[in-house]
Amino acid sequence: MQLTVDLAGRSYPVYIDSGTAAGFQSYYNEHFAGRRCAVVTNTTIASIYAPYINALKTGLGDCPVHELPDGEKYKTVENWSAILDTLVSARLDRSSVVVALGGGVVGDMAGFAAACFMRGIDYVQIPTTLLAMVDSSVGGKTAVDHPSGKNMIGAFHQPSAVWIDIDFLKTLPWREYIAGYAEAFKYAFLGGREMFSYMMINWDNILSAVTKDTPATLIECVKRCIGIKAAIVGQDERETGKRALLNFGHTFAHALEQYYGFEGLLHGEAVLIGLGCAVELAKINGTLPKAHWVEFDRITTSLPQITLPSAPDYNKIYAAMFADKKAKSGALRFILPVAPGESAIVGGVGEMEILQVLEKKLELRSA
Ligand code: NAD
Ligand code: GLY
Repeated sequence: MQLTVDLAGRSYPVYIDSGTAAGFQSYYNEHFAGRRCAVVTNTTIASIYAPYINALKTGLGDCPVHELPDGEKYKTVENWSAILDTLVSARLDRSSVVVALGGGVVGDMAGFAAACFMRGIDYVQIPTTLLAMVDSSVGGKTAVDHPSGKNMIGAFHQPSAVWIDIDFLKTLPWREYIAGYAEAFKYAFLGGREMFSYMMINWDNILSAVTKDTPATLIECVKRCIGIKAAIVGQDERETGKRALLNFGHTFAHALEQYYGFEGLLHGEAVLIGLGCAVELAKINGTLPKAHWVEFDRITTSLPQITLPSAPDYNKIYAAMFADKKAKSGALRFILPVAPGESAIVGGVGEMEILQVLEKKLELRSA
């Protein structure tokens, strides 16, 4: 199955299927013929998928393979710079291509290296986590973290293609699967009434799709998520408006991640908590009409519960929200639901309301 991210001259295909990883070589050799490349991955994927990567290395013309250390805490300028060192030592040039094989961390870092090497070369995403399949591999946001906040240093740089083989999910740890599920679930709040209903009906099937080995369910879910994301990115590539909707739950999530030092709580786990917080805030401040509360309560109670690494300090989490890129001129902005499948960007939320939400939603989750 193929979708397109429509960006005029920079449009690109997203292929979604199962059992297609091996076919990437011939795709590459057909579409990027004669162009040198470097594969960027991480140590965990390199170890699980050693035979695949070896075959890829040979099939793509004995290309270098750069292995990043594994984890969000390594999403740093230093490790990004090491990718550039590999590209330079391998004497790649302006026509070369970076192939990102991994989750969101690998994809964001490899994409950012491709954005900067020789002022920008092509790159292709082969996402291996659910989060990367439903979200980060598409849309061209590339970045590394800074101690002051997540993804603070980066660039918009669209991939040239995205190659999704959902079979990679068979080796993904359950906790990481749940983290990706959060980013899939967020589309229920912004992808229209039909997507909201689809998630209400299918949340359980999607959760169990890997263990029950029902690839069609996963392909359908990824297709829907990417379809919604592609449409939004096609209208607002640089997040001057509508694209901010994709950050549903993320003002809470980024603050939680920062509060816990990017350790102990995965990005998707923080998003999962953030989804519930956004719905609660919309109820408290009146953004979500009462008529919808029952439906929203039903959908949010189906979310997997995440236990926090340690007891939260609500005031510090509130303070961390101001480091978020969505805070404009020091004022917080939230993406809040207004109806099933529909959200809006909301400013002017008071500190008391936010603290009230944090106390209610985080109290239940402390370890
Ligand atoms: P991740 O890249 O850290 O991967 C999660 C873990 O799963 C890692 O330990 C990784 O080694 C392992 N892994 C990956 N694929 C595997 C597989 N098939 N089998 C076994 N293990 C596997 O985390 P993630 O959740 O994929 O991505 C999170 C990152 O994505 C964050 O840095 C976040 O900021 C970023 N992100 C970016 C965007 C965007 O639009 N660019 C959107 C959402 C999130
Ligand atoms: N994940 C948010 C975005 O791509 O805009």
